[in-house]
Amino acid sequence: MTFQGHPAEAAPSPTSGRPTAARAHLFHQGTVDSYRHLLGAAVDRVAHRVADVDRPFSGVTPARLAPEVDRVDLDRPLTDPAAALDELESVYLRDAVWFHHPRYLAHLNCPVVIPALLGEAVLSAVNSSLDTWDQSAGGTLIERRLINWTADRIGLGPTADGVFTSGGTQSNLQAMLLAREEALAAAVARPREDLLPRLRILTSEAGHFSVQKSAKLLGLARNAVIPVETCPDRRMRTAALAHEIARCRRDGQIVMAVVATAGTTDFGTIDPLPAIADLCRAAGVWLHIDAAYGCGLLVSPTRRHLLAGIEQADSVTVDYHKSFFQPVSSSALLVRDRAVLRHATYHADYLNPERMAEQHIPNQVGKSLQTTRRFDALKLWLTLRIMGPDTVGTLFDEVLDLAADAWRLLTADPRFEVVTRSQLSTVVFRYLPTEHHLADDANLYAREALAASGAALVAGTKVDGAHYLKFTLLNPETTVDDIAHVLDLVADHASRYVRTKTAAETAVPPAGVAAQPCHVG
Ligand SMILES: Cc1ncc(COP(=O)(O)O)c(C=O)c1O
Repeated sequence: MTFQGHPAEAAPSPTSGRPTAARAHLFHQGTVDSYRHLLGAAVDRVAHRVADVDRPFSGVTPARLAPEVDRVDLDRPLTDPAAALDELESVYLRDAVWFHHPRYLAHLNCPVVIPALLGEAVLSAVNSSLDTWDQSAGGTLIERRLINWTADRIGLGPTADGVFTSGGTQSNLQAMLLAREEALAAAVARPREDLLPRLRILTSEAGHFSVQKSAKLLGLARNAVIPVETCPDRRMRTAALAHEIARCRRDGQIVMAVVATAGTTDFGTIDPLPAIADLCRAAGVWLHIDAAYGCGLLVSPTRRHLLAGIEQADSVTVDYHKSFFQPVSSSALLVRDRAVLRHATYHADYLNPERMAEQHIPNQVGKSLQTTRRFDALKLWLTLRIMGPDTVGTLFDEVLDLAADAWRLLTADPRFEVVTRSQLSTVVFRYLPTEHHLADDANLYAREALAASGAALVAGTKVDGAHYLKFTLLNPETTVDDIAHVLDLVADHASRYVRTKTAAETAVPPAGVAAQPCHVG
């Protein structure tokens, strides 16, 4: 592969008229042919890989891959882009984890839709930064339209606003920042230092850990996040929430926010949003709904009702990169009252002086925790313009149907036990050997052995202290047969572990010879 505009025949720079080797790498008028050619080559590589991979993972270990990456001398460029892409095969593409593969069943990663990939290619080449109008122009307006579109789908009302973020963690952090500032502002008569240690956040035991992380970053007390008990279906117990709100009040603590989850990471369950919203309204407490996972229901042609109550939130997290089939990153924070976004606003003379706001020049930096920010919104824009919301929602519906099938399969299979039925697309289960004391290790072993083989990837989690396995189903290409096959693989690995272990436990060592520990795998 030759690099058009390569050192020897570098294009003259439009500014100086002098050809230079370094400038041949810049994307500009003189290098558009090189851009077309190279991107085409990269797309071809990825397309070949995607067409050829027969498993979601090669099973490579860090010990095997790290030396290959370490061997690369970053101070000695290969110069030839084809050689760099060849090298990339061995340090990345060959052993990548492929979310598009039907037997990738592990974490909250979705396969991506092609219209979003078009957006990704365009946005990184144009490289708009969404902080100020003078760095993005139309990008600012497109992001605003998508924020309004999402807020309308949620039903947040006419004063709603929001901003794209890097992910659910950042959306939750910003929501907690706004809630903290509103709580502090409400208690005007007391100094901040006195109030900060008294602030509390209530979220269910199954809520996402980013809430704890946010509390730490926001300078709250160590015990600021109070886990609220869940029912056996792993949804927040509203009586327990009411009890905690009352107890906090009695103990002189200030509940700055309740975080309800619409799609818990492990169980795919949705907290009882209408009842929680009622409690928050009655107590005058900020309600944040973490719909990072469940936001796909906003476009579901059949299941939008599962989000009933979300319209009563003060703020909502949505992760398009989980259930709208968008490439990472693509997330947003929405708020009911745009005025609260001022808590993230600073004016810098060089960037967004107050004069700009007075002139009504639309800038997004005043709403964001970030300054320079990717135009991630473009991916969703092209997705909606090419596919439309119903088509995206239909894909999400398909994985929800698949999860229901997986649940049925597992509940009918005596080799396994299942925790609770998901309202979305996870299934938490475990292999149940008759030797109950080996259940934890057998499931841990099965997960690792499966990953090492690369034949399928499943996640692991703990439920009430015990080790479980988890499917997160986000790929409409996955079939019930895939799931049945993966369950057989899990059972094979786990039962092999149990057999080896019990054989070792029952073996009578010959006289004078100590029993050897059994190392499976
Ligand atoms: C419910 C929930 N909230 C927040 C997050 C964090 O999102 P992100 O990984 O995009 O930061 C996750 C991630 O899995 C999640 O499941």
